[in-house]
Amino acid sequence: MQSRAAQAAETAPRRSGTAWLSGVRIIQGGMGVAISGWRLARTVASHAACMGVVSGTCIDSVVARRLQDGDPGAHVRQAMEAFPDQEVATRVLDRYFVPGGRAPGTPYRRVGMHTHAERPHLRDLTVLAAFVEVTLARQGHTGPIGMNLLTKVRPPTLPTLYGAMLAGVDCVLMGAGIPREIPGALDAFADGRAATLRLHDGPSQGEDEPLLRLDPGALTYGARRLARPAFLAIVSAASLAAMLIRRSTGRVDGFVVEGPTAGGHNAPPRGRLTLDETGQPVYGERDRADPERMRELGLPFWLAGGTGSPEALTKAREAGATGVQVGTLFAYSRESGMEPALRQRVLDAARRGGAGVRTDLRSSSTGFPFKVVQMERTVARADVYAARPRVCDNGYLREPVALTQGHVTWRCAAEPVAAFVAKGGDPDEARERRCLCNGLLATAGFAQVQKDGTVEPPIVTSGDDLVRLPSLLPAGRDDYGASDVIRYLQGEAATL
Ligand SMILES: Cc1cc2nc3c(=O)[nH]c(=O)nc-3n(C[C@H](O)[C@H](O)[C@H](O)COP(=O)(O)O)c2cc1C
Repeated sequence: MQSRAAQAAETAPRRSGTAWLSGVRIIQGGMGVAISGWRLARTVASHAACMGVVSGTCIDSVVARRLQDGDPGAHVRQAMEAFPDQEVATRVLDRYFVPGGRAPGTPYRRVGMHTHAERPHLRDLTVLAAFVEVTLARQGHTGPIGMNLLTKVRPPTLPTLYGAMLAGVDCVLMGAGIPREIPGALDAFADGRAATLRLHDGPSQGEDEPLLRLDPGALTYGARRLARPAFLAIVSAASLAAMLIRRSTGRVDGFVVEGPTAGGHNAPPRGRLTLDETGQPVYGERDRADPERMRELGLPFWLAGGTGSPEALTKAREAGATGVQVGTLFAYSRESGMEPALRQRVLDAARRGGAGVRTDLRSSSTGFPFKVVQMERTVARADVYAARPRVCDNGYLREPVALTQGHVTWRCAAEPVAAFVAKGGDPDEARERRCLCNGLLATAGFAQVQKDGTVEPPIVTSGDDLVRLPSLLPAGRDDYGASDVIRYLQGEAATL
């Protein structure tokens, strides 16, 4: 058990204000689920002028599954010792820790689904898991650590942010939706006040519309004051950035401007949707963010999406950006959270020219375009998709529908079709949807074993930069580290 002084030192804020942001040239993009875990973020942040970013998406499931795999290296348990309420930490250990790890073929114990209703155990696990991830990422250096969350995954957001702030996170980065209410939530937690979020962006349903709410005053581990992290909104257009400056509930400190070649979810093309002959959306001039307009907004910004090269960093700087955010190159580094055998398989396939990246309009239940690597033995393939029985047992991407008198129905277009239709969903909307929760957890090495024995197949997302990656690896080298990526981006090495 750590002393109180050691605990306090581990989680104390290291920088105040936001002036430090102007020195950050490289942001390692947040990559869910667990691809940008603490190991990657820690390595990146140990380099000057770089920010490491952990993913907060599904972090409760990720940490619960690490514990069920026996917590090799005892990292999670060591970070849990710094959590301000050790009774909470003990409860989580009792529930999830399996000494030596699960027996092969045993299902993971699920954490339960987040909804608008408060579930104290799940809330505490989520706060603790985010705390653990940030605490581990901050160790061994003094560089900045950020946390990335998806705006559209709402119910776990407040406990995840709170756990990250308890651990002294320097920055919160959020896109995939309009994160208008997040700055105000960060301000509230910094002052020890309750924060609320709406469940959706639609018109208000009046006074009895349920809200998400977290009150630090009601938590045994709640803090009276916490450092307020910087907030960067991830946007695809300057118009959205301008709107966020005007209409957010608190201060926005800068922007990541992400183009359509970036890994993960993408914004849909502006204007009328046109598809190419392979069914992928066609992006045009209007989808390229205008750095001049970004500059006029007067806040620091970073360019993302195909900006993983020293030339792109120089160009970004010349255009007025503070630097770049890079994902794909880091996703295949040694410190990535991608399951190592799968990572190697994708790299080998990329080298043979067999790992095409498709901007898929159907895969994600959210309806947003999602970049999917067309890999064998992943759910991108029609045969693997068809063989997987539909199950919804994590529920992070469920959306609230039919909000009436305090009651909410949660549904996901990738859940079993009958259930989706019974909740008023259109069967055509459910067609071809992949379960990203199970697929992305499997990609990070946490594949669920379902009741019928099905081991959940992975799904791999990457930016178009994956195709370029093999040309950056010297002949005979099939492995590289995050530090190699940084040296390459900073122009200190010609290859990885
Ligand atoms: C494997 C992978 C997962 C990603 N997951 C997320 C995510 O969860 N949230 C997010 O905002 N961006 C996500 N991204 C986007 C990255 O944060 C980053 O903006 C993007 O990768 C930059 O473009 P690049 O891939 O061309 O380097 C992901 C990217 C990759 C490659």
